[in-house]
Amino acid sequence: MQPYYDDGKGIQIYHGDCLKVLPHLPKADLCVTDPPYVLDIGAKKYSGIYADRGAHLNKIKDSFGYIFDPLPIIDLIDKNMNVFNGYFWTSEDLLPTYIEIAKERNWKWHILCWCKANSIPAHFNHRLNDIEFCIHIFQSGAYFNNELSYTQYFSYFIQPLHANKYHPTPKPSIALSNPILVSSKPDDLILDPYLGTGTTLIEARKLGRRGIGIEIDEKYCKVAADRLAQSVMDLNI
Ligand SMILES: C[S@@+](CC[C@H](N)C(=O)[O-])C[C@H]1O[C@@H](n2cnc3c(N)ncnc32)[C@H](O)[C@@H]1O
Repeated sequence: MQPYYDDGKGIQIYHGDCLKVLPHLPKADLCVTDPPYVLDIGAKKYSGIYADRGAHLNKIKDSFGYIFDPLPIIDLIDKNMNVFNGYFWTSEDLLPTYIEIAKERNWKWHILCWCKANSIPAHFNHRLNDIEFCIHIFQSGAYFNNELSYTQYFSYFIQPLHANKYHPTPKPSIALSNPILVSSKPDDLILDPYLGTGTTLIEARKLGRRGIGIEIDEKYCKVAADRLAQSVMDLNI
């Protein structure tokens, strides 16, 4: 399988559906990713948590018209790692689904928050979500770097939302770099199966890690490849 982009120093992008591409890739040490959330298209309001995973996902689907089931990609990532270790940005609606998947496997989990200092204004003096969640799911024995500064172990960080002309849902770089620092070593292989505009790979390279990203939309593959090529020039490497 040919990469869409290869910097020749361990950073690659694959264009395609991660469920089809991932089985052909080498084993990763850590997954840091920002999959599609539930798309809030203004349908019925969703509330309530169902005991059964399928019922819970169907309720989300009925309410929002779109569903992202994390199970197939988690199963594939598991096959692609020696010890499961993954950070998944997600919405609060999907947190119970991730937790259930972790519990079924006897894996550990921990929730991180990005508190947006400037959430988007909405009607009647309200604002859109001012918190985004990330669930860290890991198997016993997953690598943990215990030589960092205190702030890098915080479960939350406060950062403004930066508009991005390339992608509707960009994540600030710290949302992707801190997990890499805390849960991997230099030269480890970082996987992002839902790459978007490539921030995970940019942060992985800055931190001396290798990285593979997969993106289904060619327009974002191109943006990610351009950003990576540009950041090589910026760093004058
Ligand atoms: C929430 S966005 C990631 C944004 C990214 N964190 C950034 O800052 O640019 C999710 C991305 O996953 C991609 N995607 C959705 N389904 C996919 C699939 N099956 N395989 C690979 N990429 C997929 C979408 O095109 C989208 O760019």
